Amino acid sequence: MIFYVNAQKIIETSPNPKWTLAFYLRNKLRLTGTKVACGEGGCGACTVMLS
Ligand code: FES
Repeated sequence: MIFYVNAQKIIETSPNPKWTLAFYLRNKLRLTGTKVACGEGGCGACTVMLS
């Protein structure tokens, strides 16, 4: 899988299907600006923009 994050090309060869996007951004790409608060989809703190 190939995609871009903040204009940086990411090539992911073995994505873990158990990881959320927020977990991937924070822990694999070290983009800790993405926050997780409620962890249940209610507060919107983990919202990211896709285009
Ligand atoms: S942490 Fe994602 S909606 Fe609250």
